[in-house]
Amino acid sequence: MMDFEVFKEKWIDHCVNVVEVKQPNGYPMCPFSKHARTNNQIQFIDGSQDLFYAIEQYTCDKEIGVIWLGNLITDDHREIVRQISKENPHIIYFLTDRILSNVIITHDYKNFVDKRTQLLLTGNYYNAREIYPATKIKSQMIGTADMPKAFDRYCGASGSVLDIGGNAGNLLRSREIDKYTSLDVSLKSIQYGRMWFPNGNFYYHNKFNWFYNITGNRDEPFPDIELHDYIFINSVFTSCDYSEMLETLQWCIKRFNKKIVFNIWNIKNTELLDAFDKRHDLNIRDLTNVKMLYLFKNGNTVIDARDQDYFEADEQKCNMFASFYDIAYIKERLESSLGVNITSYNPCEIDKNFTTFTIGDTL
Ligand SMILES: C[S@@+](CC[C@H](N)C(=O)[O-])C[C@H]1O[C@@H](n2cnc3c(N)ncnc32)[C@H](O)[C@@H]1O
Repeated sequence: MMDFEVFKEKWIDHCVNVVEVKQPNGYPMCPFSKHARTNNQIQFIDGSQDLFYAIEQYTCDKEIGVIWLGNLITDDHREIVRQISKENPHIIYFLTDRILSNVIITHDYKNFVDKRTQLLLTGNYYNAREIYPATKIKSQMIGTADMPKAFDRYCGASGSVLDIGGNAGNLLRSREIDKYTSLDVSLKSIQYGRMWFPNGNFYYHNKFNWFYNITGNRDEPFPDIELHDYIFINSVFTSCDYSEMLETLQWCIKRFNKKIVFNIWNIKNTELLDAFDKRHDLNIRDLTNVKMLYLFKNGNTVIDARDQDYFEADEQKCNMFASFYDIAYIKERLESSLGVNITSYNPCEIDKNFTTFTIGDTL
C-alpha cells in the first residue's frame, strides 16, 4: 500500500525517468519539470486526511503543488476542487488519477498559461488537432504562414470578422480587428483563444470534423452568431468532406454583410499533390476525371475515396484527413446549391497551395 513518503519518492522517480526523458521528437514530455525538481520548486502536500486544510497550503510560493489524495478519488474531492477553484481563481487545480496515484496538481494560473503559451507558440509541443500554430513550424507540410496576408488580400478593408475555423484567434497575433469572432470545432483552441484574446469572441461548435473533432456531433446546431462584415474561412475546408463544407457555407450565407472568403485544395494542383505523394507515399498526382478526393489516414495506411459527398470510415481511427476538389466542378455545384455567384482565384495570389473563392462584392 502506498503512503505519502513512498508517493513522494515515486513521484520524483517518475519525473526523472519519464517526464524529463527526451521523446523521439527530441523534447521531454514537460520541459519545466527538471527545473522545478532540481530547484526545490515542488511542494508536496499530504491531502489524504484533511483535504480542505491541505489544499489551502498551496499558495504559489513554489512552481508546482502536488497534493496526494490517498487511494481513491471521491465526489467529495471533486466538490472541494470545484469550490476552491472558485475561491482562488489565480490558482489552477488539476484533479487526476492518471499520474501514479490520485493527486491534485496546482500552479499559479497566470504562470501556467504563460508557460503553455510559450510551448504552443514555439511549435515543439503543439498539437495541430488542438491549437493550430500561428506561424509555420518545421514539421508542417503546408503551414499558415501567409494566412494574414491572404486575409489582407481578400478581406482587406476594415470591418467585423467572423473567422470560421479561426482556432485560438491566430489571425489576431498579427492583425488588429475591432470586432473579431472565431467559431471552431476544437474546444482547446477556443479555450486558449478566450484566455489570449479577451476582447475577441470565441464560440465552440461541437460539430464533428474528420480531423479536428472526431467525437463531435454530426448534426450539432450552429450557435446563434450575429452578422459580420467578413467571413474568413482559411485552410478549413481542406479537412472537410463536401457535405460539411456545404452545411457550413449554407449557414454563413445568411450571416455576412460584405464578403465570404474561403479556400480549398485543387485536385489539379500538381505541386501540392506531389507533396502529398512524397509525404504519404501515394500516387494521386495523375488522377484524371476525379472531381472530389478524400484522403484518410489510419496509422500508416492511407485510404482514399472519390466523388462522394459524405465520406465514411471509422472516424476514431483517423489521424489525417485531406480533401481536394476539381475547381470548376465545385464552383458550379456550390453556386447552384447556395444560389450565389462565386469568384475564384486559382491559384490563390498569396499562397499557391490553395485556390481561393469569394462570395460577395468583387475586388
Ligand atoms: C488548418 S487549421 C487553420 C486555422 C486557421 N484558420 C489558420 O489559417 O491558421 C483548421 C481549423 O479549422 C477548424 N475546423 C475544421 N472544420 C471546421 C468546421 N466545420 N467548422 C469550424 N471549424 C472547423 C479546426 O479545428 C482548425 O482550428
